[in-house]
Order: sequence, then structure tokens, then C-alpha cells
Amino acid sequence: MSNKNFYITTPIYYPSAKLHIGHAYCTTIADSVARFHRLAGDNVMFLTGSDEHGQKIQEKAEEAGITPIAYVDNIVAGFQNLWKMLNISNDDFVRTTQERHEKVVQEVFRRIYDKGDIYLGSYKGLYCTPCESYWTELQLDENGCCPDCGRPVKEVAEEAYFFKMSRYADRLLKYIDDNPEFIQPVSRRNEMVNFIKQGLEDLCISRTSFDWGVPVPINNKHVIYVWFDALSNYLTPIGFLDNPERFSQFWPADVHLVGKEIVRFHSIIWPCILMALDLPLPKQIYGHGWLVVDGTKMSKSLGNVVDPVALIEKYGPDAIRYFLLREINLGQDGNFSELALVQRINSDLANDLGNLLHRTISMVKKYQGGQVMASEGRSEIDESLINDAMAAVKAFDEGMSTMEISIAIKQVWSFISRANKYIDETGPWALAKDETKKQELANVMYNLVESLRIISGLIFPFMPVTAAKVWQQLNMAGTIEELRLDDISVWGKTPAGLMLGEAQQLFPRIELEGDKQAEKAQAAKQAAEAKAAKKARREAQKAMEAAKAAARAAEENK
Ligand code: MSP
Repeated sequence: MSNKNFYITTPIYYPSAKLHIGHAYCTTIADSVARFHRLAGDNVMFLTGSDEHGQKIQEKAEEAGITPIAYVDNIVAGFQNLWKMLNISNDDFVRTTQERHEKVVQEVFRRIYDKGDIYLGSYKGLYCTPCESYWTELQLDENGCCPDCGRPVKEVAEEAYFFKMSRYADRLLKYIDDNPEFIQPVSRRNEMVNFIKQGLEDLCISRTSFDWGVPVPINNKHVIYVWFDALSNYLTPIGFLDNPERFSQFWPADVHLVGKEIVRFHSIIWPCILMALDLPLPKQIYGHGWLVVDGTKMSKSLGNVVDPVALIEKYGPDAIRYFLLREINLGQDGNFSELALVQRINSDLANDLGNLLHRTISMVKKYQGGQVMASEGRSEIDESLINDAMAAVKAFDEGMSTMEISIAIKQVWSFISRANKYIDETGPWALAKDETKKQELANVMYNLVESLRIISGLIFPFMPVTAAKVWQQLNMAGTIEELRLDDISVWGKTPAGLMLGEAQQLFPRIELEGDKQAEKAQAAKQAAEAKAAKKARREAQKAMEAAKAAARAAEENK
């Protein structure tokens, strides 16, 4: 636990089309980490945004017959709406077309130019327009196409400015070597080291073939290469140009969270730009895996692109957030399927969490008129529950601090199961029947409410709406946003005498078509078994009667 400044970013998304569930995945991870750090008491800056320049956007706008800015305005409004629906708690949203950002990019260019690390040359290369990336012959895939997206590349030749990236290769390798946490997970670090060891070429950082970009400050025939423009976004809202105090609070960033295919830009180009600016490098570039749908990569042509807005409308934001964070190990690819989502809702949310809350509130209502009584004395079972609660908070803290999100969330759910088991172990319904067990019952009720108080803090980074609902139903003082990790790291902060609120269902169970069929099959199976058992009983009876008759006959014949 700490109280420090914490700066986390997502990539800024291309407004070339609507965002899909894969983009929502990345932003949800960053949001859960940002919320965790706020819970830990850190001063958090969480940034996301949109990457609006470049040839591809210009072409799309032309196709649509509108100006590029009108084109992006419309799509970016959709991004912002999605983040609102998902309860993303970003502190700022940077658009690369904003004046504040364009000034930053130009200043970055100017400083590096003045230093002598940018020169005018001529570029001949193989360019992938959809990815806005140049490739060398060697890097192309087996079909001679873009190694990232598999689409054809085209040869271009133009006068251009170059950034002397090659001169930073050795320094970068040394930095990666000295800072094992810099590129995560390790598999990505190894990939990057191999890439840099092949030698870095100077980077072409301007274009003259289109004009939808930030003009080069010393030559307005050129616009600045979109990745040079985009990467600088991380400096824009933290006062790079105009607020040195704020800048020193948040720079270097703690984590740039990015998808695996853009780790290269963040762990090679971006650090070289920063070294040229004499700025410290970000503490970590974390490359997460890709989300596929029912085992297949999402693509427009396959028609399997999952729209997060439709999903949120159907299942609510927290169920989607929970699924994405729980189901996929950060750093690895993961699968999205609606069936798996519904199964998680039914088992983890409706059953485990929902039932714990509902059973607890209902029992406190039934046995104690809704009031939580002071706990006095602890049984062995109580001690074990309390130890497990404290261990869950610790594991959650460690997991979230090291970006092991699915591990952290699993620990929280194993504590939820533990608390459900505690009900079965202590049997409050039996305690309630025995006048001499009143205090024991009060202790059990107290421990359950206290467990739920802690659980609401533990689920807050993943499911903020649900955490607030639990908080409200327990009728705890203040808001869940004000809760801090310190408050849930000690046992016993639920005040005795608290009157609980009304129990309301958190997640209704969702009937699955498969469930109905399985139920029918089960009923048919049971009926058949019962029929067979009846027949067997009848036959056994007959055999017994026959045996008795035979015995009688034998007796008579004696
Ligand atoms: N504009 C650049 C980023 C510039 S950051 C300085 C870009 N934009 S993007 O919209 O194409 O992608 C943004 C992010 O979405 C990337 O990190 C990418 O990995 C992620 N994803 C795109 N499809 C994805 C999945 N199917 N699954 C998970 N993440 C995915 O690249």
C-alpha cells in the first residue's frame, strides 16, 4: 500500500470505426487498475483518448464525403459514450486534434530537431496504410504483406524528416537489461530485445503525401508521422508545456497499457523519443493479449465483431467488466463467448455474490430485526473466516499492485465462497432456535456483514456499480468511493447497532436455452429411473412371493 502519484494510460484508439469488445477489454483493465490505486490512496491520473490523424482517417472521411474532423467527431462521441456506459473513470481524454496536443507534438519535434537528432532525407519504403507502419523487406510476412494485419503494403518514395533512432539502440538495450520490469510480460521483452539487436534504423517521421496531421513546425509542406504524433499524447495532459510541477508529479508514467502488437512502438520508438528529449522513460510498458470471439479473430468480413454497447445494454456494465477481467489472464490471448459470459453471471455473480448478500441481509432481518449487534468472543470458525478475509485483502493488494488482475479477482471470489461456506458451517437457523445461542448468532451475523463490507471494497475496482449497491444495501456510512484500502485491511469496522437496508437482487439468473433442455432431459431421466425402479421392485416382490410359495409347497410335500 502506498500514497504516491500513479499515472496509467491506455492506447489512444483510432476513430476509423466503432470500438469493439477488444478495445473495451483494454480500457476496462486500465480502469480497474486506476480504481485500485485510488482505493489504495494514490493520487491517480488515468488517461485515454483518440488517435485522429493519418492517411487512413483522411481516406475514410473522403469516402464518406465529409471533412476529416466531422468524421472523427462523430466516432469519438461514440467512444466517449461507450466509456461512460462502462463506468470508465478516466481523468482526461486526449484527442490528437486538440490544440493543446498539437502544440505538444510540435514542441517535441522542435526540441529534437534543435538537438540535431532530426534531419531531412528521402524515404523509400514499404508502407501499410491501415497500420500506418513502414516495414523493411525482411519484416514482411511470407506473402510479402504487412506482418501485423496481413494486408498488402505499397512502395512509397518521398522527401521526409528522419529521427536518428539508431543512435539510441545501445542505450535502450542497456535500459531494458537494467530494468527487468520495463517491458512486461517477459515474453514481450524477449521479442523486443531480439528486435533491437537486429539493429535500429532511423525513423521516418514526416509525410508529404497527405495533409491530415500536425504540420512540421519548420516546414509546413510536411505533416508529422502519426505514431510520433500519437505517442506524444502521453505528455499532453500532464503539463509538459505549461505546468512543470504537475509534469514532475506524473512523469514518468507508471504504466502504458497496450495491446501486444503495439508494444514495439511503445518500447522502442517512444523510449528513443524520450531519450532524445532527455526525459525519463516510463516505468512499464505492459502488453496485454488479444480477445478472440468464439475462438476466432474478430473481423468485419466474418461478421463476428462484438459490439460492447449492445452487450452492456443486455447484461449491464459490471457483468461485462467482471467477465473480461476474470476470464482472461493478462498478457495472454483470451476468448469471448456469450455463453461463457452468462455462465459467469449465473455462477459467480448471481449465485456466489448475490446469494451471500441476500442470505445475510434476510437473516439479519429475520433473526435480529435488521440490526447488526456487537460481536463478543470468537469461535475457531470465526477466527478462520477473519484470517481468510485478511489474507484475501493482502492477496488482492499484491495482485493488483503487480497487474495480476485475474489472480486478484480469483482471490476475492474464493473469499466470497468462503463466506458462503461460513453460513453452512455455523448454521444460523439452528442458533436462532436456541435462546442460549443468541450471542453466537449475533457474532455470526456481525461477521457476515463485516465480510460483505470488505468484499464491497474488494470488488469496487472491477464492478463499481455493484460495489455501490452492496454498500447501500448494507447501509454503510459515506460512499464506496470514499472507502480506502486501509479501511478494509482491518477487521471490525462495521459499527454495532447498524440497521441494514433492503435486500435487493444484484444479478438475476439468466435462463439458458441449454439449461431448459438440460432440465427437461434431467426430468425425463428421473422419470425413467423411477419407472425402472418400480418395475424392479415389483419383480423382486413377485420373485419373493414365488420363493415363499415354493418353500410352502416344499414344506407341504415333506
Ligand atoms: N492508435 C493506435 C495506438 C496509439 S497509442 C499511442 C492503435 N489504435 S487501435 O485502435 O488500432 O488499437 C488500440 C488498442 O486496441 C491496441 O492496444 C490494440 O491491441 C487493442 N485491440 C484491438 N483489437 C483487440 C482485440 N481483439 N483484443 C484486445 N485488444 C485489442 O493501435
